[in-house]
Amino acid sequence: MSSSDDSRGGLRGSGQAHRPIHPNQGTRMGFEGASGLLFEQAMAQTRMAVCLTDPRLPDDPIIFCNEAFEQLTGYRREEIIGRNCRFLQGPDTDQRQVTKIREAIQEEDVVVVEILNYRKDGSSFWNTLHLGPIYDAEGNLTYFFGSQWDVTDIHQSRAEERHAKALAREISHRMKNVFAVIGGIVNITGRSMDAKNVANKINDRVQALGRSYEPTLDDAVLGTIQVGQAIRAVLAPYDPEGDRIKFNGNGVRTEPNAISAIGLALHELAANATKYGALSNENGVVEVSWVHRKDKFDRNSLEIEWVENGGPPIKGEPDPGGTGFDIADTLLSHSRGTLEREWNPAGLRAVITVPIGSR
Ligand SMILES: Cc1cc2nc3c(=O)[nH]c(=O)nc-3n(C[C@H](O)[C@H](O)[C@H](O)COP(=O)(O)O)c2cc1C
Repeated sequence: MSSSDDSRGGLRGSGQAHRPIHPNQGTRMGFEGASGLLFEQAMAQTRMAVCLTDPRLPDDPIIFCNEAFEQLTGYRREEIIGRNCRFLQGPDTDQRQVTKIREAIQEEDVVVVEILNYRKDGSSFWNTLHLGPIYDAEGNLTYFFGSQWDVTDIHQSRAEERHAKALAREISHRMKNVFAVIGGIVNITGRSMDAKNVANKINDRVQALGRSYEPTLDDAVLGTIQVGQAIRAVLAPYDPEGDRIKFNGNGVRTEPNAISAIGLALHELAANATKYGALSNENGVVEVSWVHRKDKFDRNSLEIEWVENGGPPIKGEPDPGGTGFDIADTLLSHSRGTLEREWNPAGLRAVITVPIGSR
């Protein structure tokens, strides 16, 4: 270890010392010894921009920077050495981040900030700046070390994601309003035309459709929706206590397109169960399961199974030709899906199958 007075550098406690470094030393800093050589080689090779400043000189100038720093900022080394790093800041740099850095430097703290910086050509980039103090073997503050990483892409995709989420929330909010307004129109029209029962039926379907879209919209950013969320949302009003409908499925996702047909089919099944099936008495239960699998035509399909138990004995399809299942059948056939129904004595078993990725 060098004991000369001007020996400076070395990470605190590393026991390494280097000869003094001055801004006028040009492009090669010439750190001494094996560790100095290693440092220089590592700095030359890393893609991370790195610089050292000398807090003992007026205005804490940069006394070393690597090639990645030149590439990131567009300045040549001789234009960099000797300046305070603030020359990278510009009109839209957030002063709160600058204050954070200033305070960290005063306190000799390590700090990480994301700050808008500018290249020589005037273009801006988001810089994740990591800086901290370096002490010599005697514990004297010798350098500040800074590493800069261009995170513009990440920053942009985060901003886009935030924007898309805000948009999805807004659309979701408006859709809910639209469904509420449609419900109001249907009710008022039904009442004024003495067709309250028909209006109620239409309204139930409209509202079920609305519910099936709630998770869809909140998840719109991802381009797919969680099947389980949509199923639960549609069926929630039919099981207020939460103990009559059991859900078996994992986080299977599917395209949003299939959801209207599925939502309406589930609504018809639940409405039927409430009137005649497992949800029409005290003890009946419904089990709803969903999986992705190959259907009988070897297409990737989403399969939702509906099994009722514990309801009154079934003597066959109730109200054949009623419009409920007709609507579900028609809508499903538009997505090349099916709704198979088995009217077993113990309860209805139905399977909704919708091909996915084959539109
Ligand atoms: C080692 C080191 C690296 C720095 N790197 C940057 C940088 O890449 N971008 C930046 O905007 N500020 C950087 N700074 C911060 C500025 O140099 C300066 O400390 C900051 O603007 C706060 O001081 P001021 O209020 O006097 O400008 C760095 C500071 C140090 C010590």
